[in-house]
Amino acid sequence: MESVLAEWLPALQIAPQRLHEAMRYAVLGGGKRVRPLLAFAAGEVAGAAIERVQHAAAAAELIHAYSLVHDDMPAMDDDALRRGKPTVHVEFDEATALLVGDALQSLAFDILAAQPLADDAAAQLKMVQLLAQAAGSRGMAGGQAIDLASVGKPLDLAELEFMHIHKTGALIRASVLLGAQCGALPDATAAALDRYAKCIGLAFQVVDDVLDAETPTATLGKTAGKDAANNKPTYVSLLGVTRARELALELRADACTALAPLGARAERLRQLADFVVERTF
Ligand code: IPE
Ligand code: IPE
Ligand code: MG
Ligand code: MG
Ligand code: MG
Repeated sequence: MESVLAEWLPALQIAPQRLHEAMRYAVLGGGKRVRPLLAFAAGEVAGAAIERVQHAAAAAELIHAYSLVHDDMPAMDDDALRRGKPTVHVEFDEATALLVGDALQSLAFDILAAQPLADDAAAQLKMVQLLAQAAGSRGMAGGQAIDLASVGKPLDLAELEFMHIHKTGALIRASVLLGAQCGALPDATAAALDRYAKCIGLAFQVVDDVLDAETPTATLGKTAGKDAANNKPTYVSLLGVTRARELALELRADACTALAPLGARAERLRQLADFVVERTF
């Protein structure tokens, strides 16, 4: 994934050099690459060629990287540290950070459209649409809008779940489905993967909330305690750490139940479900 991303990102010597430098800074040299790993694991279930999945995975990771750059900006979470380094607007400047997000998003769709990733063009168009919807106002961007509108508000559990499913779950779900759609699957298997992806996507943000409250900045690579400092409603503020952790485990169990009919070829997806709830950063 690292080399695929490095290859797709414009080289440092290409103009405008500062924008390209900032794009590479935002994407390379850090990040757990959970969304690409999920795409690869789902691709394995669907018998997809790695030469296809790597591009779908890169597209998902670029949308994610863009979302982080904008999420950290002063108008949003106002964070100075990301992946153990100064955030893009701190290292470069705010206008550059805006443009980095814009350009990473465009590059993601460039990649999805660049070469055949599915057996026919109609199926590939559906993949483009899937990523667009996951990133857009009915997906990640919409979830981020709810997040910002919720500062200082005591959301109930249904509202909090709706926010988390959108701001984080949508792109995680898309990563799984895009990986799978590089191959071929019977409808029932695709539905099982979708169920898995929805559970893992929500679990991912529940754990993110827990880590924000419990893990030191040095381990996280981003500022600890930021949700409380920014007065954000989270699973921790609503349920407490213990219940939030339990919920993440329940979601993992639901995710693995969905995978049960898939047998051994879903083993990597099970391992990733473990990683999502057991990770320490
Ligand atoms: C952080 O995502 C932001 C959320 C959507 C919770 P990750 O925890 O996947 O961040 P990186 O990519 O590993 O830095
Ligand atoms: C981020 O949620 C969701 C995104 C779409 C980026 P957070 O604001 O909790 O992510 P971190 O904790 O800053 O990584
Ligand atoms: Mg945020
Ligand atoms: Mg944030
Ligand atoms: Mg967070």
